Amino acid sequence: MNPRISCVQGDITLEQVDAIVNAANESLLGGGGVDGAIHRAAGPELLAECRTLGGCPTGEAKATRGYRLPAPSVIHTVGPVWQGGGHGEVELLASCYRQSLRLAGELVCRTIAFPAISCGVYRFPIELAARTSIATVLETLRESGLDLAVRWVLFSEDILASWKREAERLGCAC
Ligand code: APR
Repeated sequence: MNPRISCVQGDITLEQVDAIVNAANESLLGGGGVDGAIHRAAGPELLAECRTLGGCPTGEAKATRGYRLPAPSVIHTVGPVWQGGGHGEVELLASCYRQSLRLAGELVCRTIAFPAISCGVYRFPIELAARTSIATVLETLRESGLDLAVRWVLFSEDILASWKREAERLGCAC
């Protein structure tokens, strides 16, 4: 199965996919950025379910229902805060994608949408995040045989351009 990846500019809370991925923090109790947008769109039931999860370590992922979102599931993952690159940040970001795809497989998702995890408040360099995420998703889809269409929904034109450029460098359209 050829991995199917794509990237678009938009608001991930509007995506009609089987699961959207949230760039959360370890408390899983909401925040700003895409985390705040997802909680606002999903409604208070999302926070109520998140409270039952006991948080989530950086690099790992936990799933909830989507409630008032078009997507029936939300996969909450916690990206690394960029600290200069010497604290395992690249591997932790790759782990976010691997763990999210693992959960998507368990949920029998056929479509999933990612934001640019760690590229906002957590200050991860955009090009490096794009390269890491695309390479990790392609490798995980190939190794797992998951029949999953992966879309990045990027909030700004410059981030979309970075994703497209890095995908091209990796020899795949995005
Ligand atoms: N749809 C898609 N992407 C979005 C949206 C949205 N509605 N809102 C923001 N983004 C983008 C940002 O522009 C950025 O490119 O998501 C990317 C990730 O940025 P953040 O949301 O700041 O996430 P992150 O850098 O991983 O930091 C996580 O921020 O909101 C808090 O609780 C969160 O503490 C956690 C931290």
